[in-house]
Amino acid sequence: MTDRKPSVVLGVGGGIAAYKVCEVLRGLTESGHQVRVVPTAAALRFVGAATWEALSGQPVATDVFSNVPSVEHVRIGQQADLVLVAPATADLLAKAAHGVADDLLTGTLLTARCPTIFFPAMHTEMWEHPATRDNVATLRRRGVVVPDPDSGRLTGVDTGKGRLAHPAEIVDLARLLLADGDALKRDLEGLTVVVSAGGTREPLDPVRYLGNRSSGKQGYALARVAAARGANVTLVAGHTVTLPTPAGVDLVPVSTARDMREAMLDAAKEADVVVMAAAVADFRPAEFVHHKIKKTGDRPAPIELETNPDVLAELVSTRRPEQIIVGFAAETGDDTADVLEHARAKLRRKGSDLLVVNAVGDGRAFEVEHNAGWLLAADGNETPIPFGSKSQLAAAVWDAVAAIGRA
Ligand code: CTP
Repeated sequence: MTDRKPSVVLGVGGGIAAYKVCEVLRGLTESGHQVRVVPTAAALRFVGAATWEALSGQPVATDVFSNVPSVEHVRIGQQADLVLVAPATADLLAKAAHGVADDLLTGTLLTARCPTIFFPAMHTEMWEHPATRDNVATLRRRGVVVPDPDSGRLTGVDTGKGRLAHPAEIVDLARLLLADGDALKRDLEGLTVVVSAGGTREPLDPVRYLGNRSSGKQGYALARVAAARGANVTLVAGHTVTLPTPAGVDLVPVSTARDMREAMLDAAKEADVVVMAAAVADFRPAEFVHHKIKKTGDRPAPIELETNPDVLAELVSTRRPEQIIVGFAAETGDDTADVLEHARAKLRRKGSDLLVVNAVGDGRAFEVEHNAGWLLAADGNETPIPFGSKSQLAAAVWDAVAAIGRA
C-alpha cells in the first residue's frame, strides 16, 4: 500500500459552465487529490489557464506539442486514477464516442484505463439531438459513466434539461468512483425509484415544532447515486440541511409525517423501488395551538402527543407484488437487546425486503459525512456495510436492490 495521493485528470470542455468547474477543482484538491487540469482550447476562452494553474498547482496545456519529450497525452492518461470531464459539451461527447484524438484532452481519454465520468452541459436541443443521444449511449455501453444533466436555468433566458450538475454533486460522485470504480454502473436504467429523506417537523404552534436531527444526507446520496445509475428518481424530502437537489431528480418537499405519508403513497404507485430513509416523527402534538404559546405561570403546560402514521408499514401493506421496499433503522443497543437483534425484530415487524441498519449514538450517523452498518434482507441474509461515505453506503444499497431484481 502506498500513500500516493489519488490522481484525477479534470478535463474541461468549452462551455459557459466551465466557471462552475473551478469549484469542482477546489473540492477535489481540498479532499487531498492531485488534480491535473486539461482544458480544451475552447474552455480557455471561458476560464483562463492562470485560474486552473493557480487552483491546481500544476501546469496546464491544451495540445500535445507543449511538453513533447514527456509524451504528455500518454503519461497523463496512464497515471490517472480517474478522468472527470466537466462540462462535457456535445462536441467532446462526440469526439470521445468516436475516438477522435486531436488535442491533449481527447488524446488522454484514449490512453486512460481508469474509470471515466462525463458531466454533460449544453442546450436542451443539443442534449436531445439523436447524434448526442447515440454518442452518450455508445459511451455508456463501453462503461463510461455519463449521468444525465440537470434541468433548470441555462445560458441566457432558456430553461430546460442540459444544466451542469451541482459542483458538490460532481465532487461526491468523483470520490465515490475513486473509492469503487464499479459504484456507478448503469444497472438501474428504466427503473422508477422513490426515496424519502430528511426529518419531519410536527408543529406545536406557529413558531415551534417537534423535530429530529436528520440532515437528509443519506437520502440525498441514495437519490444521487440512483440517478447516476440510470433510475428515474423522485426524492420526497422533509427538512434537511442545505443540500443541492441531485441532477435529474424530481424533488417533492414535505414537512410533517402526514405530508410525507401522502407524498410517498402517491409516488409509490408508479415505483419499482421505494426507499424510506427519512426520519419520520413517531408522535405529533395532539393539538396545534394557533397562537404562540405564552409562558404563563411557573409550570409549563404538558404537551399531549398522538401517534403518527407508520409510512413504511403502510407502503408495505399497499405494495404491488413486484415492488421492492427498503427501510432504514437507526438503532442503539439497550438492556434488552443489541443493535442487530433490535434490527432483526424491526425487519420482521416492518415487512420490507431490506433494512439498512445504522448504529447511532456517540456522534455516529446523524449530521456527519460517513456511515457504516448492516444490510439485513428478508431472506435472512446479513451483509456488513463497511465505514465509508454516505454515497458508498447508497451504492451498497442499490447493489442489493439490483441483486433482488435479478433473482
Ligand atoms: N418510519 C416510517 N414512519 C414512521 C416511523 C418510521 O415510515 N412513523 C420508517 C423510517 O423511515 C425507517 C423505518 O420506518 O425506514 C424505521 O424507523 P425507526 O424510527 O428506526 O423505527 P420505528 O418504527 O419508529 O421504531 P422505534 O422507534 O421503536 O425503533
